[in-house]
Amino acid sequence: MPYPTKRIHFGSLVFDVNDDVYEPAEDSFLFAENLGLNVGESVLDLGTGSGILAVTAAQKAAHVLAVDLNPYAIRCAKENAKLNHVWGKMDFLQADLFSAFHSGMRFDLVLFNAPYLPSEAGEEATWIGRSWAGGANGRLVVDRFISEVPAYLKSGGRVLLMQSTLTGVEETVSAFAKRGFKAAVTATQQLPFFETLTLIEAKAEA
Ligand SMILES: C[S@@+](CC[C@H](N)C(=O)[O-])C[C@H]1O[C@@H](n2cnc3c(N)ncnc32)[C@H](O)[C@@H]1O
Repeated sequence: MPYPTKRIHFGSLVFDVNDDVYEPAEDSFLFAENLGLNVGESVLDLGTGSGILAVTAAQKAAHVLAVDLNPYAIRCAKENAKLNHVWGKMDFLQADLFSAFHSGMRFDLVLFNAPYLPSEAGEEATWIGRSWAGGANGRLVVDRFISEVPAYLKSGGRVLLMQSTLTGVEETVSAFAKRGFKAAVTATQQLPFFETLTLIEAKAEA
């Protein structure tokens, strides 16, 4: 990356992030600390941003596919994969959620630190805006993700989805349940102004 604006440290890993890419924050760190990954699993990291979750997962996973709508994020995640010596285990794709996937692509674990905050029209106009803006009720991308993800999981596979209590955690748990998943909150972190970050794990039937 020619002009990294910031270097972020997470344990022994390092991430260079520039202005057009979501800078790892509380949600990223809470997520990365709670991957619960098994050695040798195949992982999909949707909305990879700097690649913090993908690169962390690649420490144990057999293979990680990192996807983002933002071309600058893909470039940044590629550089961070090289920086952390996991380049050989990773692939990268610039795409809107699963739009570029072919049927038959299936993963043990799908990660998504989603754009989950309520937003007003126009707030998604920049790449940084698109990293957090979830539409009027904050669920625009989350609901699309929940309806599409089942087709891309192996039998017994798992989903980890980060969202906030501002955008309907119960709604997410029941949306997964409707599709035959067992879903529960696995980690939380209280933020100022009555918001709690919430990591939801949904398990498909084996
Ligand atoms: C909250 S950031 C998370 C970044 C990183 N995973 C982390 O934890 O720091 C959300 C990311 O999702 C990406 N994104 C938003 N909408 C998307 C979509 N429809 N398809 C793919 N990526 C999307 C954004 O560009 C952004 O990089």
